[in-house]
Amino acid sequence: MAETAPRPAILISRVLPEESLRLARSRADVDLHSGDRPLPREELVARLRGRPGLVCLITDTIDEPLLAACPDLRVVSNVAVGFNNIDVAAATRRGVVVTNTPDVLTETTADFTWTLLMATARRLIEADRYVREGKFTQWELMVLLGGDVHGKTLGVLGFGRIGRAVARRALGFNMRVLYHDASPAVGAVEQELRASAADLETLLRESDFVTVHTPLLPETHHLINARTLTLMKKTAYLINASRGPVVEEAALAQALKEGWIAGAGLDVYEHEPKVHPELLGLPNVVLAPHIASASHDTRIQMANLAVENCLAVLEGRTPPTPVNPEVLTRR
Ligand code: DGY
Repeated sequence: MAETAPRPAILISRVLPEESLRLARSRADVDLHSGDRPLPREELVARLRGRPGLVCLITDTIDEPLLAACPDLRVVSNVAVGFNNIDVAAATRRGVVVTNTPDVLTETTADFTWTLLMATARRLIEADRYVREGKFTQWELMVLLGGDVHGKTLGVLGFGRIGRAVARRALGFNMRVLYHDASPAVGAVEQELRASAADLETLLRESDFVTVHTPLLPETHHLINARTLTLMKKTAYLINASRGPVVEEAALAQALKEGWIAGAGLDVYEHEPKVHPELLGLPNVVLAPHIASASHDTRIQMANLAVENCLAVLEGRTPPTPVNPEVLTRR
């Protein structure tokens, strides 16, 4: 009789959608942390003893000391496209595969970027409050005026999958699109999206909306700072649904308070989940709690892909979306 391979042991660091848990349990012995806060580090280490697989969230910090303390670990599968919570270089050195969840969240994140952009420009949150506070007592010509979106210039910082999906939506608003990226897009993509490459300074000076879609890297940390904010138009809006530390929050608060720019829409924060206290008191910033990919369908797809990535590595197959594929070829 053919021997069945032993089921791999994995830790899932937070509750996932039921469908993803079922998938994991069908092929692995699952230790699930069902609490509503991230596992404290010592407990994470203890529960990873003897477990080669981890499915984790961006709220789990997987750094060199943790990897050193967990010699059984073979795969860290992040339920996110971003992976700045993981020291990938350290994982690679130790032969640990890191995976993420690109593609499945691109369109949903682009949709939400536009939600933020429109809500910010057209002052939707202030308008909602106005109605709830009983201030809507008559139609007025000069109340809650905002910025137009159609026909304006959209500046996309970071022209990867999500930046491009955001730019594609701008076609419907008949916008001019500028983008800035370390690697320029090929001509066919520029043509399809009617987008032109620009240096950072030109993009900031000419855009009516600047939307950030860069990963968090040493070179993008505080890319938006006091100097770059002063390059923007006074009538322009900043939108960030990428990573908080790309924007220097204290400088942004000053810019919004002193009218260097017209407004901002933020889904992410420099010291998440803390928000700079000055931002909380400003009317010209729309604040969301890191929900750009938070649609029912997309969160299920992200979690399923993360589970699949983890199981694939442990079952000896190539995971669908590895971050450090060089580890796989070394095996
Ligand atoms: C990601 O995927 O990186 C998001 O920030 C969480 O959805």
